[in-house]
Amino acid sequence: MPSLAQLLLRCIGIAYLAFASLPGRAATSPTPVLGSALQASRTSPHDLEVGGPLPGGLTRAFIPRERLLALPLTTVTNAMDPTRKAPAVYRGIPLTDLRSHLGLSARDADVVFGVCVDNYSKEFPNDYLEAFRSLLILEIDGKGPETWGLNVINKLPMAPYYILATDFAARPSETVLGRPESLRYPHGVARLEFRTDAATLARIRLPGTASPLARQGQAIAVRECLACHGHDDFGGTMSGRPWLLIKTWASNTNYFRRYVVNPRSVQPNSRMPAFNDLEPVVLDALQAYFRELRVADRPR
Ligand code: HEC
Repeated sequence: MPSLAQLLLRCIGIAYLAFASLPGRAATSPTPVLGSALQASRTSPHDLEVGGPLPGGLTRAFIPRERLLALPLTTVTNAMDPTRKAPAVYRGIPLTDLRSHLGLSARDADVVFGVCVDNYSKEFPNDYLEAFRSLLILEIDGKGPETWGLNVINKLPMAPYYILATDFAARPSETVLGRPESLRYPHGVARLEFRTDAATLARIRLPGTASPLARQGQAIAVRECLACHGHDDFGGTMSGRPWLLIKTWASNTNYFRRYVVNPRSVQPNSRMPAFNDLEPVVLDALQAYFRELRVADRPR
């Protein structure tokens, strides 16, 4: 016969378990199992650099590849890898799991930026991460990054990390002016920044009073331009032309439109890809967005 005290303890235990599984608990930060893996400096080109509100009060650290390989990994097959134009089997870790292993909840970091060796930076907002399981790929066909070579299309290096979701399907709700969202698959990723929307993307968003066309342009600009034309401390710096410089050019209709559609017609050695499939209304929307943008001097 259990004593009254034992019964009480059991009840408290059950009550605690019930409480622990309430949905509200998910808002608290998870256990940072990677806390002990964080190093202050890079020891290998294959270390993953991370930035954000990290365990131990750190804001920047490096994780050795071996420590990532020791985490629970996911294996998925892709019938057609876009960088190889061939099937591939990936082994890696979902970005949402990695975020948890760093002790961060979706609220602590509701946007993750994958920053590449050439300073291209692709943003992964939480809604995208929740819709598709973007993997931080550690192995392709059982092999590490030293064997990955170049993307066969753009001839850029694949190592040290590659991010891709095999279950991607463009969401109808994300189609803007007939332009669907596309798969985000940065490669040559060397750093992940765990940030908040409020401290980043919200700073280049138009107010509710902006024109509908400009707001449609905003969605397309963030998705298609920010990776190379960053603003302040987020987005890519590979172009060396920041967001507000694009805004300046947006007041020159002829230059802006010619440049976006066919950069080499303006600057013969431009490294910007031609956006030659943009409908005129999309160009109008992009231009309207940049013209209406007033970047608020908000604290981060
Ligand atoms: C893959 C990277 C990349 C993307 C994506 C990209 N750009 Fe660029 N862009 C560049 C680079 C690089 C340059 C500078 C040209 C150079 O030096 O090669 C540039 C230059 C420009 C310029 C001219 C700036 C100047 O000072 O003359 C404009 C305007 C521009 N981009 C607009 C856009 C817009 C609008 C988008 C989105 C629809 C976009 N870019 C997307 C890489 C990119």
